[in-house]
Amino acid sequence: MNMNIVILAAGQGKRMKSALPKVLQPLAGKPLLEHVLETAISLSKSAEPIVVIGHGAEHVNAFLADLAIRDLRFKKTKTVLQKEQKGTGHALLQALPKLNPDLPTLVLYGDVPLTTKETLQGLIRLADGVRSKECALSLLTQNMSNPTGYGRIVRDHDGLINAIVEEKDASTSVKAISEINTGIMVLPTRSLAKWLKSLKTKNAQGEYYLTDVIAMAVRDGVPIRSAQARHEHEILGVNSRDQLADLERQLQRQRANALLDLGVTVFDPERIDIRGELVCGQDVWIDVGCVFEGRVKLAAGVRVGPYCIIKNTEIAAGSEVGAFTHIDGAKIGSDARIGPYARIRPGSELAKEVHIGNFVEVKNSKIAAQSKANHLAYVGDSLVGARVNVGAGTITCNYDGVNKHQTIIEDDVFIGSDTQLVAPVRVGKGATLGAGTTLTKDAPPGKLTVSRAKQVSVEWQRPVKMKSKSTKAK
Ligand code: UD1
Ligand code: CA
Repeated sequence: MNMNIVILAAGQGKRMKSALPKVLQPLAGKPLLEHVLETAISLSKSAEPIVVIGHGAEHVNAFLADLAIRDLRFKKTKTVLQKEQKGTGHALLQALPKLNPDLPTLVLYGDVPLTTKETLQGLIRLADGVRSKECALSLLTQNMSNPTGYGRIVRDHDGLINAIVEEKDASTSVKAISEINTGIMVLPTRSLAKWLKSLKTKNAQGEYYLTDVIAMAVRDGVPIRSAQARHEHEILGVNSRDQLADLERQLQRQRANALLDLGVTVFDPERIDIRGELVCGQDVWIDVGCVFEGRVKLAAGVRVGPYCIIKNTEIAAGSEVGAFTHIDGAKIGSDARIGPYARIRPGSELAKEVHIGNFVEVKNSKIAAQSKANHLAYVGDSLVGARVNVGAGTITCNYDGVNKHQTIIEDDVFIGSDTQLVAPVRVGKGATLGAGTTLTKDAPPGKLTVSRAKQVSVEWQRPVKMKSKSTKAK
């Protein structure tokens, strides 16, 4: 479907009490505006959404520039500046020169993040299909148990929409109407241009209300239609931290439910946070308090213990992640055991049946099958072979203060506890490093290499505690 899409995002969001513009506040780890833009571009391949910015424009611009680099789908996003925020009608007026008059215009709000593609497609279809040259006007409305704060939909005796009246301008009888304006609408663009130019500010807030175009459409005989979203959260706007927190919980609950439907065990669907895309195989277990960021894939039978943070990571079937483990940018093979209390950093690839235990940090390292680092170790910029045992307290000294260097540990190596490998260094296949070794030269394969001061035993007298001198001595 071809159309103009305008996202109103110039408002300040005073009630957020934040230095960050409201539309950049994160919901599920992503700015509100990104949610809206994502939906907007999903509507049509040729979509070139226009974002009306104003308050905090430099921040919003910087965000959009970064987004276009991160994700090419957003490259066609345009902005127009609304220097002073004089109302929603005034905001849309700023975008007018950029609109194609032959296409309908869809208006979205930067602070209403969860409207679905399906709902919007329905609204667009509803505006379409009139025999005249221009489309009809379609409004997304909602019946709310508590409509306070919203514009109310006023209908005539035949149930036809007459006008939208803002809460601040409403009489008691209008305030009693439960059907509200979500703000989201599809408009015939040529008529819209005419209507916007004739908006007045004679209202309680002294603003140019976009909602006033409804009465103008009635006067011009433009058909007005309405649709409702399937779920209330689709139309909820964010005006305060409280509403943002509420929406976050609703969205997370919805994501948890989707996992449950797929056969995932989510120990407590109220205590999981998915800030990105989590793809799970069958019989995955996720304990409480876990946070998933970016793209995470958990294959069948993966078990994640409580309070883990997993980001941009793939974990193959049957692996277990222990409590309080942090994994970022890693690939983990099947039947691995990671944690509890492990940290796997970007660039790490662990093959099948690798064990990484408590207080072990792995960074930018490849570890082959069945190798183990079970306690208190740092493996950085390393290539570790198969069946290697990394003893407790082992450290790859990868950084000389200026550059990073690689450590290579070949298959079947045994590294004794408290060993430092000063990179660049290589440990040959089947080598053993004695506990406490500081390895500064390559260790040959098959041999025991140890660097350690000789152990000596001498006769000595352990110091004894001195008697304190009593001041009361005679
Ligand atoms: C608006 C609607 C109201 C509706 C409600 C739904 C009007 C007059 N009122 O009220 O009928 O029930 O949304 O959430 O349209 N914005 C600008 N420039 C401005 C003013 C606002 O870009 O000068 C943007 C804001 O950033 C926001 C959106 O427009 O994304 C809505 O503005 P807001 O002030 O929140 O309108 P409401 O009072 O909520
Ligand atoms: Ca609002």
